[in-house]
Amino acid sequence: MTRDEHLNDHWGSRLGVVLAVSGSAVGLGNFIRFPGQAAMNGGGAFMIPYLISLLVVAIPISASEWAMGRYGGRRGFHSPLGIYYAAGQRRPICGLCGGMFTFTAYVIDMYYLFVEAWCLVYALQYLGGLLAHVGLGFSLFPEIESGLNLGSSEAYGKAFESVSGASGDGALFSKAGWPVLATLALCTFANFFLIYHGISRGIERFCKMVAPLIMLCSLIVLVRVFTLGNPTGEEGRSLLDGLGFMWNPGSVRETLSQPAVWLAAASQIFFSTSLCTSAVCTYTSYVRPKQDVALSSVTATMANEFCEVCLGGMMILPPAIMFLGAAAADQIGSSFSLGFIVLPNVFGKMPAGEFFGFVFFSLLFFAAITSSISQLQPAVAFLKEALGWGHKRSVLGCVVAVLVGSTCVCWFTENLTALDSFDFWSANFAPFLCAIVQTSIVAFIWGLNGLQKELDQGAIVKLPRFIGPFIKYVTLPYLAAIFAFWLWKNSADRVESLLASRSAQLSTFFLLLVLIAMFLTSLYAVRRWKREELLAAGQEGKSENNE
Ligand code: TRP
Repeated sequence: MTRDEHLNDHWGSRLGVVLAVSGSAVGLGNFIRFPGQAAMNGGGAFMIPYLISLLVVAIPISASEWAMGRYGGRRGFHSPLGIYYAAGQRRPICGLCGGMFTFTAYVIDMYYLFVEAWCLVYALQYLGGLLAHVGLGFSLFPEIESGLNLGSSEAYGKAFESVSGASGDGALFSKAGWPVLATLALCTFANFFLIYHGISRGIERFCKMVAPLIMLCSLIVLVRVFTLGNPTGEEGRSLLDGLGFMWNPGSVRETLSQPAVWLAAASQIFFSTSLCTSAVCTYTSYVRPKQDVALSSVTATMANEFCEVCLGGMMILPPAIMFLGAAAADQIGSSFSLGFIVLPNVFGKMPAGEFFGFVFFSLLFFAAITSSISQLQPAVAFLKEALGWGHKRSVLGCVVAVLVGSTCVCWFTENLTALDSFDFWSANFAPFLCAIVQTSIVAFIWGLNGLQKELDQGAIVKLPRFIGPFIKYVTLPYLAAIFAFWLWKNSADRVESLLASRSAQLSTFFLLLVLIAMFLTSLYAVRRWKREELLAAGQEGKSENNE
């Protein structure tokens, strides 16, 4: 792809951009993180702060981020660095903030690829079990022949330990770890390949292909869950009991009185919608100037919510309760244990579970890959814009740097400390800051009129005029309040426990280096832009004088 082709790269259609943004949003967050968070934060009661966050945070921020992206794109900017700079009316500080927030999606990518690789390993393992029926079985787990029918939950825990390398640092860099490292390399290459082919020919085409596949896989699993009846015949194990566990509000007052629950709900909204992680504004900067952003932003958010609440909320926890009883809930120490220990155990007990396991983990894998490409794209655009690099060089540079981060995550696997630190800083902490800065730029620098004008341009359905004031007077204080409350109540403990081990300190130090590199690169770019603007203004002045 030449530089000119890159500058002219746009989404081919409205459907294309909506599918790509929804593809970015729908991922492991919908199918594993959401049910895990709900189970750990009060079950049905969690849905109250969750829905409030959806209304107060996701819908308005999504509209403003789409508008901001197209506004920057029209001025030739496609990275958060340039987009924030444009929306911030060319204030260097806004550009610097945007440049540093490229960090969020990029760092998420470093561990997301690793989890994506687990999904592929599990899907292939089930496929090996299916093929064993025709004599072609294979296994990626050293101690298992094929398939994943292990019997006890301890055995599933052990299997996950061997895939994630949780038994000790460097565990994956042994003979047993090669399938995971090989699939990780494969996933990274697939991401590289898609991004290399550009917005419309790579990302858009792939998302259009994969979206029906994701829907089909979800439908298969959902129909299975709804036709299970009462699989073990024991009391409290019917579909209704399963659904009740997920959806009954339980002790509302106790749940709502904890600041950590509100933070978890807002974090889940950010993680799930990919908002305020630099991915959505990057994607929407490739929307054509007269193409709608208002209705599209709402459509993409709602598509994501459908996948999260209706699909993710129905097909994960209910079958776990139906097969394992309420005890399953105790085994959910994290979203990962739900996805990679509890669920395989459930598939092991289900008739034709191997097939459904294969479908489920393929679904996860496809959903993950459309997300991980959107985590890389902002950084690729960042390098192009900040350093003036060509397309090939930027994509290669980003992928190589991501591999360094992923290697760090794959090495420090004891108790998944590196993954945990990466996740905390990039997916819990940074999106809040990013959201606060982003909405402040919209409210105080770009201005509500600017936002409204941008939203209305090309709008198929105009959004209500109160969206701007709502962002300024409700969304921003809401986010600031939750964040401040959390800083006050929980941050010290959280950071202390996070930095308790040497590997966590090293990972955090690595992330700091990434952030500093991004800051310096952004500084270089913003100063160059300012110089160029001064030069252009000077020349204009000169030619006016000559006239
Ligand atoms: N939304 C993705 C999911 O639900 C995860 C994610 C978080 C993400 N931040 C992102 C994806 C930024 C792309 C870009 O799994």
